[in-house]
Amino acid sequence: MVFRILRIIETPLTRTEMESDIMEIRVEKIGQSRIQEVDFDNIPFGRVFADHCFIADYDNGEWTDLRIQPYGKMMFSPAMLALHYGQTIFEGMKAYRNDNGEVMMFRPMDNFARLNKSAERMCMPTIPESLMMDALKELIKLDKDWVPQRKDSSLYIRPFMFATDEFIGVKPSEKYRCVMFTCPVGPYYSTPLKVMVESHYTRAPKGGTGSAKNGGNYGGALYPAKLAQEKGYHQLLWTDAAEHKYIEESGTMNVMFQIGEKLVTPPTGDTILEGITRDSVLKLASSLGINVEERRISIDEIVEAHDNNLLLDAFGVGTAATIAQIELIGYNGRDLVLPPTQERKMSKLIAEQLTAIRYGEVEDKFDWMVSMN
Ligand SMILES: Cc1ncc(COP(=O)(O)O)c(C=O)c1O
Repeated sequence: MVFRILRIIETPLTRTEMESDIMEIRVEKIGQSRIQEVDFDNIPFGRVFADHCFIADYDNGEWTDLRIQPYGKMMFSPAMLALHYGQTIFEGMKAYRNDNGEVMMFRPMDNFARLNKSAERMCMPTIPESLMMDALKELIKLDKDWVPQRKDSSLYIRPFMFATDEFIGVKPSEKYRCVMFTCPVGPYYSTPLKVMVESHYTRAPKGGTGSAKNGGNYGGALYPAKLAQEKGYHQLLWTDAAEHKYIEESGTMNVMFQIGEKLVTPPTGDTILEGITRDSVLKLASSLGINVEERRISIDEIVEAHDNNLLLDAFGVGTAATIAQIELIGYNGRDLVLPPTQERKMSKLIAEQLTAIRYGEVEDKFDWMVSMN
């Protein structure tokens, strides 16, 4: 199948149209919008869903039956492969409304490229990134009133794909569904984070699936995270699988530390998700004249820097979390307390600049923003 152009139509496809190499998205609009039920000043993260969603099904080696329809429940067989053997991947990205009322996305093509990278690792089909982008534009056009006005809020977009074969047995599915829905969201974390260094459980070994965004990575992290939460921490700071000595990432964020005047972060590889916020922060920090180092960081180095008053800042970076300050790091029975958040000049500057780019308040010299109008 060649993806030449994409037409959005609002009536069922005829057979001749289906046989052409033009991919089309059928649109079925919702009868009555649910937007009146939403309190945009108090949006719980991830519980309110906009009116429409995009769906595509993969069968016989191609993506077919592309449609946008009212968001709602789906029916599946209990034998659906994704439920048993974990072929399921997802992405997370955000749309912002700038001061001119324009809806802007932050680096959406990078998310679609990463979705396909995850698909390859999980032995799933890739989906054309331009198709996803066209579907997203149409989805946002339909649900543009769901993009919050408030500066601390945005429209979260969740593209995902899962195996739909009705079959019991471990093998790659032959059928898949790709879905994309959106939800207005406020802040993910509202207070600075207490994180605990994990020295026993492992998120991702070398050669594993750590750099993919597949559901299993998150399911396996729940139990160790729950143990840390029972001790009063919000999140884990994962360490490497081989020695539990080097810092990797945290929950749904990459992590960064200010040691002296340097901004230090672990390098990506096959055990860490290649965060789009991480990449953006590194580029932004360099452009602001900050000395950036991507290198392995041992927990011993963090303890030593803390004890010598050189650990000036620590924060998580991610689409949902944005820039999340870390106030305390628990390790080996000790709680390393970081400087008060109001003193964190580096992360504050980076967060302000990133927000200003997202809301169109400063020049987007990296060409990150994409207009959805
Ligand atoms: C495990 C993990 N690490 C890091 C991140 C940050 O990635 P991004 O900045 O692309 O959202 C995420 C969120 O997607 C994540 O789930």
